[in-house]
Amino acid sequence: MKTPSLYSKEVMKHFKHPKNVGVIKNADGVGRVGNMTCGDIMELYIKVGKNKKGKEIISDIKFQTFGCVVALAVSSMLTEIAKGKTLEEAMKITNKDILNKAGKVPMIKIHCSVLAADALHEAIYNYLEKNKRTIPENLQKEHERIKSSLKQVEETHKEFTEFEEKILEK
Ligand code: FES
Repeated sequence: MKTPSLYSKEVMKHFKHPKNVGVIKNADGVGRVGNMTCGDIMELYIKVGKNKKGKEIISDIKFQTFGCVVALAVSSMLTEIAKGKTLEEAMKITNKDILNKAGKVPMIKIHCSVLAADALHEAIYNYLEKNKRTIPENLQKEHERIKSSLKQVEETHKEFTEFEEKILEK
């Protein structure tokens, strides 16, 4: 008898063959987020280009994560969802959208799935801030929440996050 999987086929597919893993050296925006529950860190990099209508889009996207099966799989899924989207569309991508694509995720692992959308929104925030652009109010609020939780993660799991940071810098 086949043992039922804890994860959906989609999660396992992205875990085994994650897409867009790595660093964009000259990224236009970088999002760094930390998971309060486990202390895992994720970084996401975006390049911003323009589509045929002249709208800014996410032309390239990569991520690095120290997270588990779910964190890795949903990050990979997020990069596929976000690539080619306009910044406005990308700002609207939620954890729920990613979980809908992911399918079955155990309750105990739901906290691992929230990093990806947060990291994307942080990367867009970083891009807008660097370019002295107007930051929508909801993105500003989200940034404050994510920044404060990253600070707490870095304080609570100091040794762990410093180690992760050194590895990510390589
Ligand atoms: Fe840390 Fe899943 S246990 S992201």
